[in-house]
Amino acid sequence: MINVSVAQDRCFALLPCAGSGSRAGTATPKQYQPVAGQPMARHTLAAFARVPRITQVLVVVAPGDNFLHTPDATFSIAACGGATRAESVFNGLKQLLVMGATPHDWVLVHDAARCLITPAQIDALIDACLPDAVGGLLALPLPDTLKHARANGRVDATLDRADKWLAQTPQMFRIGALHAALAAHAANGFAGITDEASAIEATGAQPLLVRGSAQNFKVTYPEDFALAEAVLTSRDA
Ligand code: CTP
Ligand code: MG
Repeated sequence: MINVSVAQDRCFALLPCAGSGSRAGTATPKQYQPVAGQPMARHTLAAFARVPRITQVLVVVAPGDNFLHTPDATFSIAACGGATRAESVFNGLKQLLVMGATPHDWVLVHDAARCLITPAQIDALIDACLPDAVGGLLALPLPDTLKHARANGRVDATLDRADKWLAQTPQMFRIGALHAALAAHAANGFAGITDEASAIEATGAQPLLVRGSAQNFKVTYPEDFALAEAVLTSRDA
């Protein structure tokens, strides 16, 4: 019998979009702030809509959030956001399974607030992870010297940066494996689970690092909006 399992494996995208953006200091959730003429989350959605290998995109928003209310053919919405990013992702995975995804299908989890992601970067992650037994994430080798701080705000050590990477998203894993990995942390409120890879790592598996771009930063602080705007505007030009 011919093994067609790889050909049948689908890729879903899950966009956690249920945060409040407390560090961004905006009046409304940061993912809906206008950047280069559109709410930030719309730029993120547009990038995923341009990747043909993505079967379906599910956006996880907070209960009662109607901002993206009219989904178009390119995405669905689930108002099942949780108290933490990990809980939002966990709830979204359950919804993907309800919608017909299988545990063997892949999911690319991507922060709605990383609105500078490009279709080429998404494709690069898919290319690297499809043949991989575990899956992986976009990440960036640490560019700066890394300092260890004491509580008094002074440096007590310089750490070796050669083996340090900054984790980005998307992060791509099998839906079933990621769901099980997160379920193990549900009882303690997903403590210490700051991305998908950390949950997978806790199972003993080793996610693949796929080099991303410094432009794929997460809009987090007030000054990040102007930088995102400049990058998006320069791409349009
Ligand atoms: N997120 C989510 N559910 C939460 C918290 C965050 O879906 N309970 C989403 C955010 O909307 C964002 C992504 O996870 O797209 C990355 O989180 P982050 O940048 O930390 O956003 P916020 O949590 O909203 O910001 P802050 O931590 O500054 O409050
Ligand atoms: Mg947060």
